[in-house]
Amino acid sequence: MTNVSKESATIQQMFDRIVPTYDFLNSFLSLGCDHYWRRKSAILICSNKPERILDVCCGTGEFSRVLQEEVGDDGQVVSCDFSEKMIQRAHQKYNSRWPFLRANCMCLPFADDSFDAVTVAWGIRNVEKRSQSLHDMFCVCKKGGRICILEFFPMNANPIFSRLFLFYFKHILPIIGAIVSRETNAYTYLPQSVEEFPSVEHFCQELIDTGYTDRENIIVKQFMFGVCVMVMATKTKNGEIQ
Ligand SMILES: C[S@@+](CC[C@H](N)C(=O)[O-])C[C@H]1O[C@@H](n2cnc3c(N)ncnc32)[C@H](O)[C@@H]1O
Repeated sequence: MTNVSKESATIQQMFDRIVPTYDFLNSFLSLGCDHYWRRKSAILICSNKPERILDVCCGTGEFSRVLQEEVGDDGQVVSCDFSEKMIQRAHQKYNSRWPFLRANCMCLPFADDSFDAVTVAWGIRNVEKRSQSLHDMFCVCKKGGRICILEFFPMNANPIFSRLFLFYFKHILPIIGAIVSRETNAYTYLPQSVEEFPSVEHFCQELIDTGYTDRENIIVKQFMFGVCVMVMATKTKNGEIQ
C-alpha cells in the first residue's frame, strides 16, 4: 500500500487532484449514505439553533449546504478548506451563496468566541497537527458552543460486518476510486488514514484535553455499525488548553 505523508502540502495537493470526481465518488462508494450521515449530524448540531456555524475542511461544500438548510435564514454558515480547487468547486456549485474561504484549520483566521458551532466532516483525520487544529477550533467557538466531528474511526463493531466492510474498504474501494478519479494514492490513503486514526474513546479524550466537556457530556452517534461516527462536545469554559 502506498504511504501518503500527512504533511499539509501533500494532503492539499491530493485533495486538489480529486476534486472533479470527489462528490460522485463519495456518493457512489458509500451508496449514498454520506448524504444521510451529513443530514443526521446537521439536524443534531442545529437542534439548539446555532446562529453562526463554521464548517471546517468543507471540501466542495456538501456539509455546509446541509447545515445552511437546517439552520435556515436565521443562521449563517461560514466554510473553509485549504484546497484551492475544493473552494473553487464550492463557489461554482453554490454560486457563492455563503462565504467559502481558503484557510488551514491549524491556523484559523477568525476571532475568538465567534461561532456557536464548529463542524468538521471527514476532515480532522487528514490534519497534520490535530491537537493544534482542535485548539484553534476551540478558540473560535463561543462558550456554550459545540464542536461536531463526523469521521471514519477504526471499526470495533460486529466482527462479521467489520470483516466484510474492511474487505470492501481496503481492497475494492481503492480500485474503484483509482479508476474513476485516476488518482491512485487518494483511495489507498483513505483506509490507511482510518487505520492510523485513534479510537472514538481516545478521540473523546483529546477533545476533553483541549478543554471541551467531560466524557458524560460528549454525544457519540454511530452510523452503520460504526462505519461512520459523529462526536459532539460542548465548550463549557473559556481558556487555554488544560
Ligand atoms: C474528505 S474531504 C471532506 C469534505 C467535506 N467536509 C464533505 O463533507 O464532503 C476532507 C477535506 O479536508 C481538507 N483538509 C485537510 N486538511 C486540512 C487542513 N489542515 N486545513 C484545511 N482543510 C483541510 C481537504 O482539502 C478536503 O477538502
